Amino acid sequence: MIDEKRLVEKAVAAMKNAYVPYSRFRVGACALASDGSEFTGCNIENASYGLTICAERVALYKAYSEGKRDIVALAVAAEVEEPVSPCGACRQVILELAGNAVVILSNRDGSRVMRTTPGELLPYGFKL
Ligand code: THU
Repeated sequence: MIDEKRLVEKAVAAMKNAYVPYSRFRVGACALASDGSEFTGCNIENASYGLTICAERVALYKAYSEGKRDIVALAVAAEVEEPVSPCGACRQVILELAGNAVVILSNRDGSRVMRTTPGELLPYGFKL
C-alpha cells in the first residue's frame, strides 16, 4: 500500500532545496522504489538556461543511479494553486524510467492533488 500523502509531503519538502535564481519557481519531487527506498529531487537552474534540470528528472536519475529501477510512485509538487503539470521533457523521461508508476501531482502544500499515469501524461510517447 503506497502512502501517497507521505510521498507528496516529501515532494513538498524537497521544494525548499530548489536552486531557482532565474525563475524563482520551486518544484519538488519524490520517487518511491518497490523496495521502499525514496529519492527526492528539486529543480536546479543554470545561467545557461538550457542546462536547467527539472525536479522530476533529478529524482528519477537519483533512483536509477543508485540501481533502483522499479519505480512504483512519483510525487511532484510546485508553487502553484492547482496540481502542477509536468513539462513535456519530464513526461518523456517519466514514461521510460517510471512507466508503471502512479504519478501524483500536487500544488504547493499538498492541499490539491491529482493522480495520473505516465501513459495519460504522454499518450503515444516516443519509444525505441
Ligand atoms: N520545472 C520543473 O522542475 N518541472 C517541471 O515539470 C516544469 C518545470 C522547473 C524548470 C525551471 O527551473 C522552472 O521549473 C521554471 O520553468
